[in-house]
Amino acid sequence: MTQPKRVAITGAAGQICYSMLFRIANGDIFGPDQPVSLHLLEITPALGLLEAVKMELDDCAFPLLNDIVCTDDAKTALTKVDAALFVGAKPRGPGMERSDLITDNGKIFSSLGKTLNEVGNPDCKVCVVGNPANTNAYILKANAPNINPRNITALTRLDHNRAISQLASKTGSKIADIKQMVIWGNHSTTQVPDISYASVNGKAASDLVDQKWAQEEFIPTVAKRGAAVIAARGSSSAASAANGVVDHMASWVQGTPKDDWVSMAVPSDGSYGIDEGLIYSFPVQIENGDYRIINDLDVSDFIREKMMASQQELREERDTVASLLS
Ligand code: NAD
Ligand code: LMR
Repeated sequence: MTQPKRVAITGAAGQICYSMLFRIANGDIFGPDQPVSLHLLEITPALGLLEAVKMELDDCAFPLLNDIVCTDDAKTALTKVDAALFVGAKPRGPGMERSDLITDNGKIFSSLGKTLNEVGNPDCKVCVVGNPANTNAYILKANAPNINPRNITALTRLDHNRAISQLASKTGSKIADIKQMVIWGNHSTTQVPDISYASVNGKAASDLVDQKWAQEEFIPTVAKRGAAVIAARGSSSAASAANGVVDHMASWVQGTPKDDWVSMAVPSDGSYGIDEGLIYSFPVQIENGDYRIINDLDVSDFIREKMMASQQELREERDTVASLLS
């Protein structure tokens, strides 16, 4: 019998997880032959609600779901897991920026980073979702030196998917026809959705849409889509965020097609002049469970200026959380 993959998930009684846990239990990350074990972490007052989520998971009778641990003890949740999805954190409301959450949420990631450092598997694959996701991942990485830093990532796949959807709609094409989209930078309004390398059914996207649309409509629409969802829904994106996490992890585990890539926020290796160690979104290709930053793309002056502005925002967020970095 194949050993189950153990996945820790924080904030497991929250909105995103209510869409995400069922997908993971169904095999959408690790594939149809791999059993999974869910380690669900919540704060103590939410344990009752978490029990209700467990009841529903049980009632689905997922053949791949080996067992479920519900706990408010981070050590129990994070011990020797193969993957850890850090979702648990406050969401923003209308009129807020994601960075307004930094003081409250940053503390969660320094504390959980320390616990992961103590009890985690060094090769554990980490995806940080709680906002501001890049800087929370940076805090977690600083507090977990025993964990392979390459494996500490943050979610920009939702932005990547949003960008593909906008381009498909503009060009009247199918989602599957679009390849090589890029999101650079921070999961914030400074992010840089970039169609420079994208193709639509084999044709250069930049030949199919005018530059004015790409610069003045596409970029702000994707970058502000989270706020648009909050305005429409009264609370932040949940099902699409859950889908982004599943896509992020499935690509990481199962790989990317040879002729495409995905966007992931990962520790910079200095590519494109981005400070080493900052958690920055790049295009990556993935093989055998390991990613490679695509580091040889020609970047226009217009995009480069925006990439640097996003880096500057991440530097400022890093300085704001200096007290949480050790
Ligand atoms: P939610 O409020 O519905 O759920 C959050 C859950 O986390 C709650 O159940 C809460 O009890 C729990 N929690 C809080 N502190 C915790 C801790 N220390 N340990 C364990 N659990 C804890 O929020 P949500 O809609 O699920 O969103 C969660 C986070 O994800 C927010 O910060 C939101 O802004 C962010 N988000 C990120 C993206 C992205 O693309 N990166 C997309 C959507 C939402
Ligand atoms: C999103 O992009 O939908 C999330 O980061 C939630 C938010 O606050 O916008």
